[in-house]
Amino acid sequence: MTAQIINGKAISDMIREEVKAETDKLRQQGVVPGLAVVLVGEDPASKVYVGSKEKACIQLGFYSEVHRLSADTSEEELLALIHKLNEQSTINGILVQLPLPKHINEKAVIDAISVDKDVDGFHPESVGNLVIGDDSLLPCTPAGVIELIKRAGTDIAGKHAVVIGRSNIVGKPVAMLLLRENATVTICHSRTANLKEIASQADILVAAIGRAKAIDSSYVKPGAVVIDVGINRLPDGKLAGDVDYEDCLEVSGAITPVPGGVGPMTITMLMSNTLKAAKKAHGIG
Ligand code: GUN
Repeated sequence: MTAQIINGKAISDMIREEVKAETDKLRQQGVVPGLAVVLVGEDPASKVYVGSKEKACIQLGFYSEVHRLSADTSEEELLALIHKLNEQSTINGILVQLPLPKHINEKAVIDAISVDKDVDGFHPESVGNLVIGDDSLLPCTPAGVIELIKRAGTDIAGKHAVVIGRSNIVGKPVAMLLLRENATVTICHSRTANLKEIASQADILVAAIGRAKAIDSSYVKPGAVVIDVGINRLPDGKLAGDVDYEDCLEVSGAITPVPGGVGPMTITMLMSNTLKAAKKAHGIG
């Protein structure tokens, strides 16, 4: 039997349609969601991401500001901009593209973003709200992973979910979200003994390791839902996930490809967060 292929692009398009429909309705009430994206320096990958975020705003009818600052911008200047955006009523979401140049303290910058506008979900208070289970803006890629699992028709409650990776951006928040959905959650990482043995007990396996094709079919329980968060560049220039897709296709119950799986979801969830922040700012349920 071959796995159900989870089409991240199609699911992402569907969510964008929903966000657009809600945005059109909001506009009739005089509310336009606004996103500010801040890019410091010339990192080529970051430039591409920021361009995609700007395009998504335009596509959905959001108000968009992109602040492209030179690489020698001081931390004080960046913090001053964030303070200004925190106060600006046309802006509901603030995203500072990471990584920042080395002379800027990333934590100080993230901490300065108003929690209500923290559409990345990286602020310590947002992280705390996620852990407690209070309402908060959820980090985009982890929220996208949950949407993919649900919209692929998988019931998460009661399942054993194994997350491989413990980063603050993906591994830890994905694990917390799965727990919130009532999965039994195991977090594995580079120091885990018996990784294969644990992974192959998973009903839901999330790979966020950052190593191309590290997970082959011997790590996958027959019928498991396999979500691949990795994006790795191979020597031949092609993209590969953390999962050996071809090898796992037969054993999995459902699987995300790379590209076209988790990737398209991240910006879509950013848009969804910005819409949510705008509604909250205007007291719209
Ligand atoms: N750089 C790579 N991914 C991300 C992300 O999700 N948010 C931000 N702010 N920067 C990133």
